[in-house]
Amino acid sequence: QAFHRAMEEEKQPTGGPHFVGKKDEMIEAKHSFRTLEGRDVLIVYHQSAFYAIDSYCYHAGGTLLNGDIEEFDGKMCIICPNHKYKICLAQGEGIYKATDPREKTPVPRWYSKGVKQRIHTVTETNGDVYVKLSEDRGFIESDFYQGEKGKVERAKA
Ligand code: FES
Repeated sequence: QAFHRAMEEEKQPTGGPHFVGKKDEMIEAKHSFRTLEGRDVLIVYHQSAFYAIDSYCYHAGGTLLNGDIEEFDGKMCIICPNHKYKICLAQGEGIYKATDPREKTPVPRWYSKGVKQRIHTVTETNGDVYVKLSEDRGFIESDFYQGEKGKVERAKA
């Protein structure tokens, strides 16, 4: 298996920023899907900012490509079209609104589940847009739906 992995890695350069498109085109498209080093990534342009996140929702592998963007609790989020989970674009946090029944007068508040979706780094140089994949080695839930194994899991969901 290690040999297979080595072969895979040889096919595409790893580590560095990948050119993903011309800035004008990426702005026009708003949401762009790219596969980088075998990873499916969604690049979003919203209110003058670019974001790059894993393309499949951490909850059950839903495709985020057509997810609406909205601000919740001061954070720009994508809403998964499948079950409406909200994912913050800048940090990959899963957030939800709930009331605490232990409060005297329960008021709905926003809560964070922590980072659930892997976030990548977007840069621009001379009208070109680049994405550098996250190098965070810890497991992030959206990792589960990536690659060949992820394809199988997505089909089950
Ligand atoms: Fe995204 Fe369930 S798959 S909310």
